[in-house]
Amino acid sequence: MCGIVGYVGSQNAVPVLTAGLRRLEYRGYDSAGVAVLDHGVLRVLRCQGKLRNLEKLVAAESLCGTPGIGHTRWATHGRPSDTNAHPHVWQGVAVVHNGIIENHLALKAELIRAGHIFSSETDSEIFAHLIADELHRTDDLAAAVREALRCVQGTYALAVLREGDESRIVVAKNASPLVLGRAEGESFAASDIPALLEHTRDVIFLEDGDVAVLQRDGISITGADGSPVERPTRRVDWTPIMAEKGGHKHFMHKEIFEQPRAVADTIRSRASMEEGDLYLEGLDSEVLRNVSRVVIVACGTSYHAGLYGKCFIESFARLPVEVDLASEFRYRDPVVDSSVLAVAISQSGETLDTLAALREAKKRGCSTAAVCNVVGAAIPREAGATLYTHAGPEIGVASTKCFTTQVTAMAMLAVKLGRVRGTLSAEEARRHLAELSSAPKLMEKVLRQEQACADLARRYRHLSGCLFLGRGPQHPIALEGALKLKEISYVHAEGYAAGEMKHGPIALIDPELPVVVIAPRGPGYEKMLGNIEEVRARGGQVIAICSESDSRVPGLADHVLRVPDAPPLVSPLLTVLPLQLFAYHVADMRGTDVDQPRNLAKSVTVE
Ligand code: M6R
Repeated sequence: MCGIVGYVGSQNAVPVLTAGLRRLEYRGYDSAGVAVLDHGVLRVLRCQGKLRNLEKLVAAESLCGTPGIGHTRWATHGRPSDTNAHPHVWQGVAVVHNGIIENHLALKAELIRAGHIFSSETDSEIFAHLIADELHRTDDLAAAVREALRCVQGTYALAVLREGDESRIVVAKNASPLVLGRAEGESFAASDIPALLEHTRDVIFLEDGDVAVLQRDGISITGADGSPVERPTRRVDWTPIMAEKGGHKHFMHKEIFEQPRAVADTIRSRASMEEGDLYLEGLDSEVLRNVSRVVIVACGTSYHAGLYGKCFIESFARLPVEVDLASEFRYRDPVVDSSVLAVAISQSGETLDTLAALREAKKRGCSTAAVCNVVGAAIPREAGATLYTHAGPEIGVASTKCFTTQVTAMAMLAVKLGRVRGTLSAEEARRHLAELSSAPKLMEKVLRQEQACADLARRYRHLSGCLFLGRGPQHPIALEGALKLKEISYVHAEGYAAGEMKHGPIALIDPELPVVVIAPRGPGYEKMLGNIEEVRARGGQVIAICSESDSRVPGLADHVLRVPDAPPLVSPLLTVLPLQLFAYHVADMRGTDVDQPRNLAKSVTVE
C-alpha cells in the first residue's frame, strides 16, 4: 500500500503533486517523495516521515518543474528511511510504485551481475533498472515500460518519468488501484479519486495490464500487448470540499458526523418506499430467488458489517449465511458452487484479500455481488453486481461512515432477498424500509450527545484495556467498538458475544476493567441485564449503551449512554455511534494520530 500521483501540464508540478499526496496520505505515511523535470533535468526529493517533512524539504530546495510524479509510502520491503523512499532512480529513469514485486530478488541479482547498482532495500527500485535497460533498445518510454513489465511478477501501480522527456509520464497498473484524470491542457494520475478532485471529476479507471501515456493534450492507453484500448470516462459526484476537514479537528470526527447524511443517501439511491422494493441492478431476481446460501467475505470493519448482514438475511430471507474473513476464505478449500451468492464488502473496493476471495468465489461458480464505496474500484468491476454505499470519500483510517452505510446496504440486501424469495411480504418489506429511513434522524439525535461521550472518554482516558459485549446484531457492534478503540487509541480491547463472557473473558474482570455493555431494548435485552449483573458481581465497571425509555439498565450500570428506542434492524446504526465517539475522544485525549494511526493504512492492497 502506498499512494502515487503524476502530473503533466504547464503548471509547476510540485504543489500539484504534494496536494495530491496530502489526499493520499491515508494510504501510507512513513516516507514521501517527488520527482520533476526542471527544464528537462531530473530533480528528486524524498525523505522519511510524513508529508510535512517533504513539504519543508521542497520549500527549502525551491523545487520546481514539470511534469512530475510523487509517492507516499507504507513500507513493505525495506524499513521506512530516506533511501527506501520513492521515487527510485536509475540512469535518468524515475519511478514511483504501489504494490509488491514477488520476483524482485531474482531480478535484482541478475541486474547486479550485469553491473547495476541498487541504492534501496525496496522491491520497487527494480522498475527503474528494468525500464532504463529497455531504453537502450528503444526510445519509446511506453514500449520500454511494457517490456519491463513482462519480467515482473506481482502487483503494481506505477508512474515513470524520464530525464529529458518533458512531454509525458507513463503509468501502468496490475492489481493496485490507479485512476487518471483529464483537464484542459493537463493530465493526472493518482491511486485514488480524492487526489484528483481539485482538478477534475472526469476520471478513467485503468484495467489490469494497461499502460497509459499521459501528455498535456491527452491520454492514450494500451493493453499489455501494446494495442490501443478504450477505457470509459466516468463522472464522480464527490466534490473537493467533501474531502476536506470542514472545520473539524480530524477527518474521523467529520466523518462520524456525516453518517446521517451518508446513510440517507445510501437508502435514497436504492429504495422505493412506496413499492417497498429496492433497485439492485445487475442482481438478477431469478438468481436471488434460487440461491441456496450466502457467503459474505470481507476484512476488518467491513467484516463486522457482514456479521450484521448475516443476522437479517437469515431472518428475512430464511437463507443460511456464512461470514468469512476474506484472508481465510481465499486460502481454504471453501465449499461453494453456483448455488451460492458470494457478497464481498469493501469500503475501498481495493482490499487485496477481499478481491482475491471474490475471484476465488467466481472461479468456483458463485454468483457474486459487492458492497463498495468507490465507484469503479477493482471489486465492483469484478463483481456481478454492486450495491454502492454513498458515504463519499472516507479519509480517516478508522472506518466510521463507511461502516454504517455498509450496515444500511446489508439491511437493504436482506429486505431484497426476503422479498424475492417470498419470505417477506410487501407489507413487511415496506415496514423495514420505513424503519431504515427513520435511522438518519435518530442518528442525528445520538450525535447530539457527543459531550456525554467526551466526558466518559475523559474519565477513562488512561484505561489499559476494555471489554465490549453485545448479542445478536449488537455483537458486530461490540467487535466494531473494540476495533475502533484499538486502532486509534492503541488500547487493548476485546469485543465478545455476551453469552460467551462466562466461557473465558469473565476472568479478565476486576475493578480496573471497564466493560461496555450494549444493551438496547429488543431481543436479548433480558440476557444483557444478566451480563451486567455478572460484571458488577466481580467488581467490574459497567458502561452501558441503553434505550432512552429504559429504567432498569441505568439502575445497574456505572455510566449510561442512551440511544433512541429503535427496532433491531436500526438499533446497531445507533449504538455504534457512542462507541465511535468514545474511541475518538479517548484517542484525541491520549494525543495519538487519530486520522493516521501508527502501522495502519486506509486500504490494504497487499497481503
Ligand atoms: O476497504 P475495506 O473495507 O476492504 O477495508 C477493510 C479493512 O482494512 C478496514 O475496514 C479496516 O479494518 C479499518 N481500518 C477499520 O477501521
